[in-house]
Amino acid sequence: MKVLVVGGGGREHAIVHKLSQSDRVEKIYCAPGNAGISKLAECVNISVEEIEKLKEFALQNKIDITIVGPELPLVEGIVDEFEKAGLKIFGPSKKAAMIEGSKYFAKQIMAKYEIPTGRFKAFDRYQEALKFLKETWYPVVIKADGLAQGKGVFIVRDFIEAKEVLDLMMKKRVFGPSGDIVIVEEMLYGKEASIFAFVDGENVLAMMSAMDYKKVYEKDEGPNTGGMGSIAPNPHIDKKTLNEIEEKILKPVVYALKKEGVVYKGVLYAGLMLTKEGPKVLEFNARFGDPETEVILPLLKTDLLEVIEATLEGKLKNLKLEWEDKKAVCVIAASKGYPGEYKKGFEIRGLEEVKEAFVYHAGTSFKDGKIVTSGGRVFGIVALGDSYKEAREIAYREIEKISFEGIYYRKDIAAGY
Ligand SMILES: Nc1ncnc2c1ncn2[C@@H]1O[C@H](COP(=O)(O)OP(=O)(O)O)[C@@H](O)[C@H]1O
Ligand SMILES: [Mg+2]
Repeated sequence: MKVLVVGGGGREHAIVHKLSQSDRVEKIYCAPGNAGISKLAECVNISVEEIEKLKEFALQNKIDITIVGPELPLVEGIVDEFEKAGLKIFGPSKKAAMIEGSKYFAKQIMAKYEIPTGRFKAFDRYQEALKFLKETWYPVVIKADGLAQGKGVFIVRDFIEAKEVLDLMMKKRVFGPSGDIVIVEEMLYGKEASIFAFVDGENVLAMMSAMDYKKVYEKDEGPNTGGMGSIAPNPHIDKKTLNEIEEKILKPVVYALKKEGVVYKGVLYAGLMLTKEGPKVLEFNARFGDPETEVILPLLKTDLLEVIEATLEGKLKNLKLEWEDKKAVCVIAASKGYPGEYKKGFEIRGLEEVKEAFVYHAGTSFKDGKIVTSGGRVFGIVALGDSYKEAREIAYREIEKISFEGIYYRKDIAAGY
């Protein structure tokens, strides 16, 4: 089989790596890919939002299945376009991807079908939102409705802060149309967790749990990032909680969507707060998470291609996922300055010295035959072990072998577990 993976980050490297272990995969293309991915797949110089070009490529190269990593092309309807052209593609349709593309849509579904989530109000008029924010309790969470590259959510402590955020979204329109609707949400307290599931329109097959480290500095201080590390399984989710998440959240939302005429196929990602009253939804995503995928897929024993095919054919009911009885730890190496401004183009040395862990590339590319940094998050190093401690020790031992100017990583990933 010929497979095309859309994307070029650590998540896509992990997907490509897993696919490369399948006997039935003959050839993998990745658009646009990165320096690390190019060892396992042929990288194609098309960016993820060029849906027309990707479709032409898939048609010309007789791609059997396309797998979409990031949210943007999903929300813009890549799945619908490919299917119209008779191409097989793994991911939700444009309508179904609204569960991520519009937080308001997701909230309405949850409210209507009584799926546990924080109380909220939505506004499309500035004055009404302002009036509500004058009278409400604090803290509250203010969210832009649409995609905002993880920058559209603010926890505010008082009216002054709230007004600033509202101005940013609705007056200055820094998120463009994504801020045309603003959601004000109840603040939830607890541990955060994310659960991914394969969904075939009807059946839900939950994957192993994971936990990510969002803040840039140790002890969860500093600004949010795309993720500075991850571990799997999530030490805060036991069998009972996972079961509760499946029964009260994942299955009901897939059912709800179906009732509303939306067939969901692909990966469904639930971002959760584990509150005293049980797990509550913060948001849904319509794809694999990054950097959770980098710790989940290495533990998956089942052939990924088989799972993807079963998803597309609506046959997940007959499938059981098999997992390694191990722990996985991922430490992300970033460029100095990230998530603010940073420099690119520094040579990455020592990659070939890493023997006991995987290196999943994110922001890397080739320059004059050398691998150089080309993004804020540069790579993730992933180690497996019989305990979190063992995996953590391997990851940190191996990451020390790699260097580039301004390399930064948190030293506390998986610490204490
Ligand atoms: N209701 C809430 N209560 C407390 N924290 C929240 C709430 N909603 C969001 N957050 C925090 O903000 C982060 C981002 O919010 P989320 O809804 O996941 O949006 P996105 O990932 O699109 O930025 C969450 O991971 C969580 O840390
Ligand atoms: Mg989120």
